[in-house]
Amino acid sequence: MATQRWHVLELLEWTTSYFEKHNIPNPRLDAEVLLGHLLEKSRLQLYLHFDMPVFQKNLEVFREMIKKRAARTPISYLTNRKEFMSLDFYVDERVLIPRPETEFIVETILKMKSDSSQSILEIGTGSGVIATALAVNNPEWEIIATDICKDALAVAKLNREAHDCDERITLLQGDLFDPIKPLESTRYNWVVSNPPYIMSNAHGSLSPDVRDYEPHIALFAGKDGLSIIRTLIAEAPDYLQPDGKLIFEIGDTQKESVNALLENQSEYKKFRFIKDYSGKDRVVLASL
Ligand SMILES: C[S@@+](CC[C@H](N)C(=O)[O-])C[C@H]1O[C@@H](n2cnc3c(N)ncnc32)[C@H](O)[C@@H]1O
Repeated sequence: MATQRWHVLELLEWTTSYFEKHNIPNPRLDAEVLLGHLLEKSRLQLYLHFDMPVFQKNLEVFREMIKKRAARTPISYLTNRKEFMSLDFYVDERVLIPRPETEFIVETILKMKSDSSQSILEIGTGSGVIATALAVNNPEWEIIATDICKDALAVAKLNREAHDCDERITLLQGDLFDPIKPLESTRYNWVVSNPPYIMSNAHGSLSPDVRDYEPHIALFAGKDGLSIIRTLIAEAPDYLQPDGKLIFEIGDTQKESVNALLENQSEYKKFRFIKDYSGKDRVVLASL
């Protein structure tokens, strides 16, 4: 990108071709999202301002952004934004970038319990999207959200505050159920989790955007990818009310193993799998 006067359209075309050369999967889309972010314009507004000049000061920042994207930094870490359940969230390298499939967890809970007051325990909250989306949609609900990672909880705190949920979401640090063990007698209506579930030896098959940038503690869960899910299934009944429910996300090849784990745990009276947008079994709902 030589020093010259650039206009929006030229810059988009130049960046798209630069991304193509670096094998970035959606080159034009990424160019538009990054330039729109920098100029504080929506993609539609960019189209309406193709002739607008881009000033040198912005060009320098843009150059750094496109270099990072060409090196596979995920777009959301460059814009520090991700939409989830139609809400805007702050994200950075300290947390997993929330995925659209995870919205099925929130939607399932909202569909089943829209009015009565609910107590919810989320394990592995990361950026806090699940807890925050539930709290925003239901001002009566009380949520405890935990994570093993202190840095992730700092991001969850920012999102909790941005969505005015400080009063209703308690954030606690620790391994799985450890942080709530001191609250022994409390029983929850829901235990909710999007846990890490990728097999440790699948490292090489992940896209560089994920493998090289997202926190490994949010991705990998032992040799079979089930080390966290196994504990969730085994221990959730100890923390649930008599008619409580466990809901969690799984990998697209894990249905059979998870089915077997649930069948071996007699506390669950019934369970079912919920498919994601591409028809894959993605969320498990198990009831005591
Ligand atoms: C897949 S991410 C999900 C983040 C967020 N809930 C979402 O859906 O975008 C899993 C989260 O679990 C946390 N985690 C990993 N191992 C954990 C453990 N043993 N106990 C509690 N949290 C854990 C990670 O730090 C990460 O934030």
